[in-house]
This record gives sequence, C-alpha cells and structure tokens, in this order.
Amino acid sequence: MNQRLAPAPEDPESAMGTKSPSTLAALPTLRVHDPVGAHQCGLSPKEIEQFRRDGYLIKRDLVPGELFQPILDLWWQQPPVTESGVIREQPETWVSPGDRWLSENRWGLTNNWMGENVWPGPEAARPGATVGDRVGRLPYKLTRDRTNDVWRWHGIGHDPEFVACTTGHPNVMYMAEALLGGPIKKPYRNRGLYAVFPCDPEGPESILGPHMDQNMTELMVVTYLHDVEPGCGGFTFWPGSPQMLYPTSQQAFNWVATGASYEAMDKAKTEIQPLEFTGKAGDTLFCHALMIHSAGIHQGQGIRFACIQDMNKSRPRTHMRWTVAGKHGGPRVHCDMDGIIRIDRETGDDPADGDREVTNQWIMDSNEFVVSREPPHVDMFDEWNLGKAVVSGNIVDEQPWWERYDLPMMPEEGMGRGTGGVPAVALKDIADYEGNGVWRVRRRAI
Ligand SMILES: [Fe+2]
Repeated sequence: MNQRLAPAPEDPESAMGTKSPSTLAALPTLRVHDPVGAHQCGLSPKEIEQFRRDGYLIKRDLVPGELFQPILDLWWQQPPVTESGVIREQPETWVSPGDRWLSENRWGLTNNWMGENVWPGPEAARPGATVGDRVGRLPYKLTRDRTNDVWRWHGIGHDPEFVACTTGHPNVMYMAEALLGGPIKKPYRNRGLYAVFPCDPEGPESILGPHMDQNMTELMVVTYLHDVEPGCGGFTFWPGSPQMLYPTSQQAFNWVATGASYEAMDKAKTEIQPLEFTGKAGDTLFCHALMIHSAGIHQGQGIRFACIQDMNKSRPRTHMRWTVAGKHGGPRVHCDMDGIIRIDRETGDDPADGDREVTNQWIMDSNEFVVSREPPHVDMFDEWNLGKAVVSGNIVDEQPWWERYDLPMMPEEGMGRGTGGVPAVALKDIADYEGNGVWRVRRRAI
C-alpha cells in the first residue's frame, strides 16, 4: 500500500496560506438561505447537493444552547479574563483585551514543561533548544492576530463534560455519520473553545486571514456556544474551496500540497464569495476539512464563542506527527511519514543527542498519519455517506492516542479544570537512533 515515497516532512503546526489577499467581503449565512432540512438531523436531497458542491452544511439548533451555560460560566473565571480586566457585566471591557495579556501567555499551568520553569528544571543543563523557548502548545493560547484578539482555550477541549456537549453530543455524532459515513472514531477531544473579542474601533483595520489547516482531519465542525450576529467574528469560510484543493494533494488522506495547491488557493481567494457563519447557540457548521477558512472580522458587540472540532473515520493509522527542537543553533525538524527524523550535523547540532524536546499538535483528536498513501479519488466523496446508508451508530471507541503513548493530557492534581495538554518529551523517549543523523520514531497506533 505504501509504495509511494514519504514526502518531505512539514511542521505539524503550520497552516497552508498564500500571500495574495482575499478580494471579497464575507456575507452572513442567514437562516433564510438554509436548504430544506436545516432544523432536522439527517440530510435532505438539497443538503446533500449543497455539501457535494460547496463542501459545507449548517444544522440549526443541533445542540440545545443551555447545555453550554456551565462552560461559559467557567470561561469567565479563567485568568485570561480575570487578570486582563474583562468583566462580564461591562461589555466595554471586552474590546481588544490583547494588550493586557501577559506576553508569556502561560496562565493556568503548574510546573510542567510548558510552564514557567525551564525544562526540565532550572539547575539542570537544558536538553533542548534555547533557554526560555516556549515548548509546545499551551492550554491557553492567546494571540493578537491580524484579524482580532483571539483566545483559543485548548485546555477545555479534553474536558469530558465539554466533549459530551459538543463533538460527542449524539446529534453531532449522528451528523458526522450521515456525512462521512461509519465507522466514525469516537471523539475524546476537540480543539476547545475559541473566543474572538471585538476589535478596537480606533485600532488598525482588520482583515481576513484565509488558510487551510493541513492535518489529517476529514470533517471540520464548528459549534456556537452563543449567538453570533453578522460582522461579529463569525467563522468565515470559502465554499467550494475543498473541491478545488482536494485533487491537487498528492494523497487522499494525508494532505500533501503541490504547486497546484497554491494556485488553487489563490484562485479560491479571488473568485469565491466567502461566507461568515452566523447563527444561534447550538447551530453547527460541518465542513470538508480542506475548507479554506479564517477567523471572522469582529467589529460588532459581544464575544464570539465557538467550539472548533475535528472528526474522522476510524481507519488504519501509523506513527504520530512529531516535531523536534533543534539544539546548539540547529533548526527544528519534523518526522516524515516513514517515522524518520533526520538531524543534519552540518548545522552544528549533534544528531546523536536524544536530550531535546519533542512535541506534537496535541489539540487534535487524531494525531497520527493515515497509513494509506493512495492518491486523491476521482470522486472526492466516493467514500462518504451523504445519503447512501442509514445512520446506525457505527462508532468505534478507539483508545485516545495520548493514552497509547503514555502521555499526560488531562489536568493533574493541583491544576485547574480546563488546563492540561501534552508537554514536550525527550527525543530518546519516543525514537531510536539508527546512526548517520537518523532517528526512527516508535509507532503505537492501533
Ligand atoms: Fe484554521
């Protein structure tokens, strides 16, 4: 099956983008535009037609909005809110709080490798990259993007109660099987709760940042936890872009961009009318995972609360996508689809040195390459359900990858709810040195 050579490895955290700006302003997805069936689980012929053509579908009121209240209450108690003076009763404090966030953005952590302590401790010789470097994703990721101030609360994404009322909700699972077809992999985490704050009207003008996430996801899902009006930071996407990108990949299940992929992205950004997902709490957008998307522009009122989710079929997978910190001035390198990490001695980095940090994109529910390297199919939906079969609850309960790899994910004792995440591990703990600068990572896929 894998006679195709492994392509050059990519940074697992990188998104795909091109320099050209998108030309059109987004239009809102008003309910009056929904195809018949938007209020029911399942797929109407019009919805199937739309998904095949445009790669997206919105289901209204898919999850009861009141289920989110305890999570939103918890959100308002978190340090990025309380320590930056964002006050629930005072909407004027919600505007552009990014200038009040600590530059380290490290709230909510105990003394693990992603916390304030230098890894693995202040006294030890540091077996990794430059002292002070941040290692891996943080459970609270606060950014001042070109569009907005955004807080990605990844740490809540593995909270069992949060997963139960979002990706794991029976109606979301039902729709995943209706679209993708079974066997659906039972979700154990999602990317968490993404909050977009209103822009400062006095600040620089916001612009969209269209990109594609290029991971192994098959179905991207966005659920609103609170109502989102037009112009208020709604998830923005380019309908039909998956149809343009899919045939340009070298592979069907692992995205491998080619020159044609960048041309397709430029074309999509100039020719496609982007849409801004607007709706009520519980409304859920399902997209083909190659959908070009952006955080929405927020020049209105209120905070946009969305749960960003990745759903997949249960299918044979191989090793995890690791990325390895450089040392002694050497660059960061990534493992390829064969599980090989190559460290170049020419950079001054000692390739045999296994004391260096290795991280992965722990915010994902599926984090391992798909075994198959087959090329894209003629019909990109030939394996999908889209009305072919009755939904039967064909769900596979795979052990989460972090348990299989013995990695910590859940908050430990003393850490608050909504924290946790996988810290860096040492290269020698996940791979074996084969000489000549080559390390081979160990595989623990099912
Ligand atoms: Fe993205």
